[in-house]
Amino acid sequence: MTGLFITFEGGDGSGKSTQASLLAEWLEASGRTVERSREPGGTELGLELREIVLHRRGHIAPRAEALIYAADRAHNIATKVRPAIERGEIVIQDRYLDSSVAYQGAGRVLDPIEVRDISIWATEGFLPHLTILLDLDETIGRERLDAARTKYDRLEAEKSDFHSRVRAGFLALATAEPERFLVLAATDPITSIAADIRARVTGLL
Ligand code: TMP
Repeated sequence: MTGLFITFEGGDGSGKSTQASLLAEWLEASGRTVERSREPGGTELGLELREIVLHRRGHIAPRAEALIYAADRAHNIATKVRPAIERGEIVIQDRYLDSSVAYQGAGRVLDPIEVRDISIWATEGFLPHLTILLDLDETIGRERLDAARTKYDRLEAEKSDFHSRVRAGFLALATAEPERFLVLAATDPITSIAADIRARVTGLL
């Protein structure tokens, strides 16, 4: 069996983890081996980098932030994701390089092509077979986060216009690569989003 790399993208509170879990359960029930990962923090090194990039007090320069995400990504792909795909497994991952282009590019206003190129170098050009973008109005995302928790990480704490640029950044990426992206409205019922995802993944199996 050939391996598959499927990533979930979208703003904070868009339901990526819920949908990633539902897809993993469905694939496992059909006999496939599924590996879950996430960025930042899919590996032991990644967990340390996640702590720094999301919770370190004080300013982190935008380019330094971009490089920390890229370092996490390089290690995750080299030590976890690529080996699993080569074994013929399916890797389902929360966030990947599109998050860097949207958050560090559109959000922090770094050059999106340069941000993407850093990740391409970091991963030796490793791209997902499918990227599911759960599109959500940033004000609804914020309400969902407010209901779920009281503490925000460094990115979540950014203002609404930052998150609106991030959303537009994701949508521009999806428009540029329609064959890789499946864009779904994150406000649709969980079960109908899950069904749409299964329909698209079935075509790749
Ligand atoms: P998470 O809570 O969904 O795991 O995401 C952590 C935060 O990191 C989220 O606010 C988005 C942000 N992020 C970036 O800014 N750039 C990246 O490359 C990645 C992977 C995440």
